[in-house]
Amino acid sequence: MASIQYFLFTSLLLYCFSPSLAQQSFRPKALVIPVSKDASTLQYVTTFNQRTPSVRINVAVDLGGRYMWVDCDQNYVSSTYRSARCGSAECSAAGSTGNGCGSCFGEPRPGCNNNTCSVTPGNPFAHLSTSGEVAADVLSLQSTDGKNPGKLVTVPKFLFGCGPTFLLPGLASGLVGVAGFGRLFKIGLPSQFAAAFSLHRKFAVCLSSSTSANGVIFFGGGPYVFLPGVDASQSLTYTPLLINPISTAPVYPLGEPSAEYFIGVKSIKVNEKAVSLNTTLLSFDSEGVGGTKISTVDPYTVLEASIFKAVTKAFIKEAAAMKITRVTGVAPFEVCFSSKNILSTRLGPAVPSIDLVLQNQNVFWRIFGANSMVQVSNDVLCLAFVNGGSNPTTSIVIGGKQIEDNLLQFDLATSRLGFSSSLLGRQTTCANFNFTSTA
Ligand SMILES: *[C@@H]1O[C@H](CO)[C@@H](O)[C@H](O)[C@H]1NC(C)=O
Ligand SMILES: *[C@@H]1O[C@H](CO)[C@@H](O)[C@H](O)[C@H]1NC(C)=O
Ligand SMILES: *[C@@H]1O[C@H](CO)[C@@H](O)[C@H](O)[C@H]1NC(C)=O
Repeated sequence: MASIQYFLFTSLLLYCFSPSLAQQSFRPKALVIPVSKDASTLQYVTTFNQRTPSVRINVAVDLGGRYMWVDCDQNYVSSTYRSARCGSAECSAAGSTGNGCGSCFGEPRPGCNNNTCSVTPGNPFAHLSTSGEVAADVLSLQSTDGKNPGKLVTVPKFLFGCGPTFLLPGLASGLVGVAGFGRLFKIGLPSQFAAAFSLHRKFAVCLSSSTSANGVIFFGGGPYVFLPGVDASQSLTYTPLLINPISTAPVYPLGEPSAEYFIGVKSIKVNEKAVSLNTTLLSFDSEGVGGTKISTVDPYTVLEASIFKAVTKAFIKEAAAMKITRVTGVAPFEVCFSSKNILSTRLGPAVPSIDLVLQNQNVFWRIFGANSMVQVSNDVLCLAFVNGGSNPTTSIVIGGKQIEDNLLQFDLATSRLGFSSSLLGRQTTCANFNFTSTA
């Protein structure tokens, strides 16, 4: 009798624990998530499995956001949810120190607990933010060998911010929050995943230009392989990532640096000719104003007014020399052309190239027609850059359109950006990752 009980007990034990044992013995080299483009908002959207029982959640990608937050007011049901106790390591990982200690009057539930530290989750698309508790819950995503997705892996205590439902307006339909890939805190997605699985502290973003085929984000080092077998990690150009010492977030504690990714654009060329710019605007001043950042929140690159004027003037002149006819602007674009005399090439419409010149004249990010032009109607193409007015916080915000079908690798350990330039030139696109799982 005793031995039968013992047998039952051990087999139950094995049954219960073997999945997690298997998981622990498997250490992924990299992770992968799909990124879709929402047709109506042009937001980039990714997806995770979170909670117990597990549900699929869709969140907007905010490259420079500080952490992930989700709506905890509606439909948050999970037996593994834990709020972060004041003064805990979780609170300092979230950069929530000295904010006081939250209390909540009402029934305890996700988002409403006593003795919990808080952060200020924000919706950068609608410029909303508020305070919300720091929490941890189970999150899972797929590992990868760089070629296909593999086994599902789990972060048992993934840290995030709990937001209220009123932060959701302005997000694409079906989204429950925003995922921040920023560099500042241990709670940022790349840092949390790197710590959970001892990955290289790198991630790579490859956004699809299509609203019907997924792009991809990798966590960890390469390879990053796209059909028909192009490893985009093999041909990157590197430039330092710069730290803006003053936060660019809407709400932040005094003295906090920016979590966003800045690069040092020194000049801009159109058809390889330098455009005359006020170079003071290209670096940060003592208030953190100026410089160049990369954003997945803005669908198109936004240029400070005088830079916009200088670049578009040069572009119009070079286009005219190519016999391209300017037509009336179509909002939000001021500079549009008849498509009549524009040839199409593998790299998109044949228009003047735009180079962002970086640390020296030999290092530049060249923007070809596929990334500079938007087709607004059958016979009109517009330059996909918008005028940011005369006093923007950041002078150049490189937006989604300009980074699509380019692979960008952010290396947090060495603080540098690797960029591929257009993958169209290498006969592939960001929509060509093979999402067939080999698990
Ligand atoms: C927090 O503590 C207060 C005072 O003790 C209590 O009234 C309230 O119900 C508690 N809230 C939660 C969510 O436990
Ligand atoms: C250049 O930009 C700086 C910062 O906005 C401004 O103070 C300065 O007056 C500008 N210089 C010129 C020549 O316009
Ligand atoms: C995608 O990957 C799967 C699994 O390795 C493989 O069977 C399939 O042939 C790949 N697809 C293409 C188009 O290569």
